[in-house]
Amino acid sequence: MIRPFLKWAGGKRQLLPALRLHYPSSFDRYIEPFLGSGAVFFDLCDTGRLAGRRAELYDLNPDLIGCYSAVRDRTEEVIAALDDLAAQHQKRGAECYYDVRDRRFNPVRKSNGPDRYTPELAAMFIYLNRTGFNGLYRLNRDGEFNVPAGRYENPRICDADHLREIARVLRGRGVILERRPFDYAIERAGAGDFVYCDPPYAPLSTTSQFAHYTAGGFTPLDQVRLHQAVVDAAARGATIVMSNSSAPQITAAYTGYAARRSGLRVERVPARRAINSRAAGRGPVDELIISNAKLRMAKLEPRLQLSRRASGS
Ligand SMILES: C[S@@+](CC[C@H](N)C(=O)[O-])C[C@H]1O[C@@H](n2cnc3c(N)ncnc32)[C@H](O)[C@@H]1O
Repeated sequence: MIRPFLKWAGGKRQLLPALRLHYPSSFDRYIEPFLGSGAVFFDLCDTGRLAGRRAELYDLNPDLIGCYSAVRDRTEEVIAALDDLAAQHQKRGAECYYDVRDRRFNPVRKSNGPDRYTPELAAMFIYLNRTGFNGLYRLNRDGEFNVPAGRYENPRICDADHLREIARVLRGRGVILERRPFDYAIERAGAGDFVYCDPPYAPLSTTSQFAHYTAGGFTPLDQVRLHQAVVDAAARGATIVMSNSSAPQITAAYTGYAARRSGLRVERVPARRAINSRAAGRGPVDELIISNAKLRMAKLEPRLQLSRRASGS
C-alpha cells in the first residue's frame, strides 16, 4: 500500500473517505497545488486512478519539495543516510535529535540555500519529521527549523521499501514535482483536469494556533486570491475539490454567487482532527469540502448521508 512518508500538519488521511466521494470517475490530468504529505495523491495512486495520467504536484515549502526530489532522484543515498540516523537515534534518542537539528540540519540547510537539497539533508528532514513533536514543521525568525523532539517509544524512522515505492511513483512518466505558488498551479487547470486543493486552513478564531508551513504564512488575502483562482478554474471546466475550514469568511465566499455560478457546492463534514477542535476551544467542528464534482451517492457513508439529509442537500 502506498501512503504518505511524511507526517504533515493538516494531512488528509482521515478525510479520505469523504473526499473519495468527490473523485471524478474520469479526468485528463491531476493537479495538486498544496501537496504537503500528499494524502490524496498517494490515495489516487494506490487505487490505480492515476494510471496512465499526468500528475502535477506543487507546494511552496522548499524543504518539502527538496526532500521529495531527493527521494525520487537519489533514493538509495537517502535510505543509507536515514538508516544511519535511525541507528544513532536508537542509541541517543532526544540528544541525537537536537544534535542533528542544530549542528547538522540547520547549518547545512542555511549554507546550501533552499534549492540544493542533498540526500543527507533529505534524510535529516525525514528523521526530524518522524521523531519531532507531532511531525510539525516550524521555523524561527532566523528561518531555522525549531520543532522540539517528540516523545516516541520506538519511532519507525526508515522504511526503505516504502521509500523505494514512493520514488518509483514520483519517477513515473508524466509526474511533475515543482516548488511553485498555488496561483501557478491552478492557472494551469483547464477542461477535463482534476484539481485537489488543500490550502492552510483559515483559522476559526483569532487565538487558533495553526502550523506555518512557509515563511510568509497564508494570509486572508491569499484565501481571497485562492477563491478567485478556483472559481475561474471551475468556470474553465476543471473538476475542483477543495478542503478548508468552516470559518465564516470561507463559508460565505464559497456559498456566494460567483462560486455557485461556476458550479461549486459546499458540503460540511465533521472535523475529526484534534488540531481543529482544540484550536476552536470547543467540541468537534465542521470542515468544508467544496466541489463541483458529481457525487458518488451510491457509496456515501451512512454518517455523511445523515449529515446531507439533515442539511437538506
Ligand atoms: C494543509 S497542507 C496540505 C496537506 C496535504 N493535503 C496532506 O495531505 O498532507 C497545506 C500545504 O500548502 C503549502 N502552502 C502554503 N502556502 C502556499 C502557497 N502560497 N502556495 C502553494 N503551497 C502553499 C504548505 O507548504 C503545506 O504543505
